[in-house]
Amino acid sequence: MRHYDVVVVGAGGAGLRTAIECARDPSVRVAVVSKVYPTRSHTGAAQGGLNAALCNESPQDSPEVHAFDTIKGSDFLADQDAVYFMCKHAPDVVHELDRWGVPFSRMEDGRIAQRPFGGASFPRTVYSADRTGHVLLHTLFEQALSKENIDFFNEFFLLDLLHNGQRVKGVVLYDIKNGEVVNLTTKAVVLATGGFARIYWQRSTNAVGNTGDGAAVAMLNGLPLKDMEFIQFHPTGLAKTGILLSEACRGEGGYLINKLGERFMQRYAPEKMELAPRDMVSRAIEHEIREGRGFGEGTSAYVLLDLRHLGEEKIKERLPQVRQLAIDFEGVDPVYDPVPIRPSAHYCMGGIHIENHMTSSTPMEGLYAVGECACVSVHGANRLGGNSLIELLVFGKFCGISAREYVKQVDYLELTPAEERKGIEFIENLMKREGKEKLADIRRRMGEITWEKVGIFRDEDSLKSAYEELSELIQRWEDVPVVDKSKVFNTNLVEVIELRNMLHLARAVAYCAMHRKESRGGHYREDYPERDDENFLKHSILVQEGERLKLEYIDVRITHHQPAERKY
Ligand code: FUM
Repeated sequence: MRHYDVVVVGAGGAGLRTAIECARDPSVRVAVVSKVYPTRSHTGAAQGGLNAALCNESPQDSPEVHAFDTIKGSDFLADQDAVYFMCKHAPDVVHELDRWGVPFSRMEDGRIAQRPFGGASFPRTVYSADRTGHVLLHTLFEQALSKENIDFFNEFFLLDLLHNGQRVKGVVLYDIKNGEVVNLTTKAVVLATGGFARIYWQRSTNAVGNTGDGAAVAMLNGLPLKDMEFIQFHPTGLAKTGILLSEACRGEGGYLINKLGERFMQRYAPEKMELAPRDMVSRAIEHEIREGRGFGEGTSAYVLLDLRHLGEEKIKERLPQVRQLAIDFEGVDPVYDPVPIRPSAHYCMGGIHIENHMTSSTPMEGLYAVGECACVSVHGANRLGGNSLIELLVFGKFCGISAREYVKQVDYLELTPAEERKGIEFIENLMKREGKEKLADIRRRMGEITWEKVGIFRDEDSLKSAYEELSELIQRWEDVPVVDKSKVFNTNLVEVIELRNMLHLARAVAYCAMHRKESRGGHYREDYPERDDENFLKHSILVQEGERLKLEYIDVRITHHQPAERKY
């Protein structure tokens, strides 16, 4: 048994930023747990940048305008005090990264460059060409490695939380390298396990490991999840694979073109055009395809992203990764040809319910959550591009401060013998299973259900049927055996547990979407096409009690801006 003051689960941007802050006090012992080697975390896939009102490109910008854009982008579902908090602290955490060595792209005069992004009033997105997440992740990992009081548990998978119902006691981990179960006792756990957009198995920008393990484990331990119905579809996934082509393409001036050669965004957002928020652009693309103005058919239908007018030099300087992805995965060089694209599941606005945005604390004492697995909520019903990296940096920092201070005031809680054996018994039982169900069949069906029935357009029938079918898949999962019986790198075993996690989260999304009878941000109900502030200017709070799902609503904190119609 090993003891740590703080255990951070997840070594992407959120986990690393939190761990660095916790470790500023050398007396605080920190463990960082990751199911992959940290530099393979999904933060590395973020391309376009992060938002902070540095006012370098545009002196009229300010944290207040950033906050307003974010609130409007959220379709007024974000908690406004939390948004103001994030936007106020954003410039400081960016300057800190600059000092730590992130190679940001620069203006001619040497200041940090900023590019336009969707839904933003001014060029506000700080970037490193189109590899921003990659450089950010590596810099944070270097910083974390330099702290002697941080230990890394790489390639350890989160199995469970240990707690007494009120307070957290530890985590149960599976060492993927050798099949051992390891309990860590701790005073504080920070979940920073990322999102779960892989529930859209066939069409997502996410790494295959984005299976929502932290959110699922929290939910299965009775913790509330918030606003699960709000899923973001990124407008420009590559047509064949769903791989992300950054919003930076449109920020740098790219056009969206239909089969008739029209820049069709004129019809949907005449002012902002391609730089309207993602929910609107994704719906517009899908609408064009439905109306027969796209190319191809079925799930491989698409429209075009045209970058040719930007010129070879700019494409190579600002969008080198985008160009390479288009060449490698679509066989198209954007310097010479438009690229086939279609929306792809990208980001989860919902997640583990955070009670206090200044500490990132959950309703369980000693349990915190940051980054995409958490719902603060600063994104409400639709996140603006560039606001996820800044969210994890700001809230990671402040979560780290509060966890660091909290652990100085409390002692460890002892584990009971049953708790000590919990993980071992779970794995033993899983390995003994003899069912006939196939992991790949259930996962594929889950992906079809989510894409077809809980996708960009939804209605009562599709959501009800998705909820029922996903509930059946949860039952069938009990009969999925672990076919590989080895202890060394048993990825089959990990995938079986990841599938359980995704199924529960997918059903939660369908359930919350079924009950939200309005359209707002990323949640579009064809049977309720209008926003309904009278009944649904509320956060959904979902608790799983045994087999039962319990849904309640809490008020949105409106501190600065009254909801108004969103026009772009
Ligand atoms: O399009 C992008 O580069 C993604 C950015 C984001 O999701 O914030």
